[in-house]
Amino acid sequence: MRIVLLPGDGIGAEVVAAAARVLRELPLELELEERLFGGAAIRESGNPLPPETLAACRGADAVLLGAVGLPELDRDEVRPEHGLIRLRGELDVYANLRPARGHGVDLLVVRELVGGLYYGERGTRADGTVFDTMEYRPAQVERIARRAFEIARGRRGQVTSVDKANILATSRLWRGVVERVAPGYPDVELAHMLVDNCGLQLVLAPGQFDVLLTENTFGDILSDVAAGLTGGLGLAGSASLGDGRPGIFEPVHGSAPDIAGRGIANPAAMLRSAALMLRHGLDEPAEAERLEAAVDAALLSAPTPDLGGNATTVEYVDAVVSALGA
Ligand code: NAI
Ligand code: MG
Repeated sequence: MRIVLLPGDGIGAEVVAAAARVLRELPLELELEERLFGGAAIRESGNPLPPETLAACRGADAVLLGAVGLPELDRDEVRPEHGLIRLRGELDVYANLRPARGHGVDLLVVRELVGGLYYGERGTRADGTVFDTMEYRPAQVERIARRAFEIARGRRGQVTSVDKANILATSRLWRGVVERVAPGYPDVELAHMLVDNCGLQLVLAPGQFDVLLTENTFGDILSDVAAGLTGGLGLAGSASLGDGRPGIFEPVHGSAPDIAGRGIANPAAMLRSAALMLRHGLDEPAEAERLEAAVDAALLSAPTPDLGGNATTVEYVDAVVSALGA
């Protein structure tokens, strides 16, 4: 199985190195191949997603991605984040799964990933007005809704579809399509919730949620909130899936310039993303479970500073490797 590693920027490179080391410990035939992406690729070639990188990703069984973003490129026209948005679109990984578990919470954000506000037309008018636009085609909503219902069947059978249907036309389309899809899944219970209330409910009573089905931007924001409820960004992994291979597997967090280069990033989010890769991307559920158990054990024995401990990234990975061998 061929896996393309995209370390990217900041702590992205640190956590991808951790994942590569752990993956090599597993009894699987994995071919790991590293490619330039993000700010690192801009420096090399002026392009955050060079054609060789995209071609390698297309030919892979899975893509494991760290994070992108460099503060010194923040004002530039070409930005590392554009590479990420393009890669997701090119591979058409429309379903972003972001689990959050712990502290009485066990929910899954199913976020539409290749449409909506992040992919709409944007521009600047002569008078200086700048605009972003949000568009959804019915088919785009339908495929993500079906994914959410299918996944809910294997969980507690509850889908909460999040929108802003009291204001936005795209949200009214969203709600209508979800309503149309729902009868095909009579074993799943559907509720609708406005996104602002959903933010409140996540903070006040997150235990009520099973699957949260959301538009791209809403899901980006709400999944960070969900991560905050369950131990922070250092723990939150994600899977981005299309209809076939490869999926993209990446932590929810970014390049964390505030701690980059200090060797203290928590690689658990990246390792949980690697476990999601084993389960959803490579069809190796037993190894996924083994890795998840080792990640959990190491969180107790060698917590990093974001969790109140003092283990370094390498010490935490040592603990994961030893838990895998135990
Ligand atoms: P961030 O997620 O990088 O960091 C937010 C806070 O969480 C920081 O205090 C950071 O130190 C902490 N944190 C994040 N991951 C951690 C880990 N694994 N271990 C310990 N602490 C961790 O978000 P921020 O600061 O808003 O963005 C930084 C850069 O990352 C920006 O350039 C942004 O565009 C980019 N970004 C990239 C993403 C991606 O590649 N998927 C996602 C989010 C942001
Ligand atoms: Mg985000």
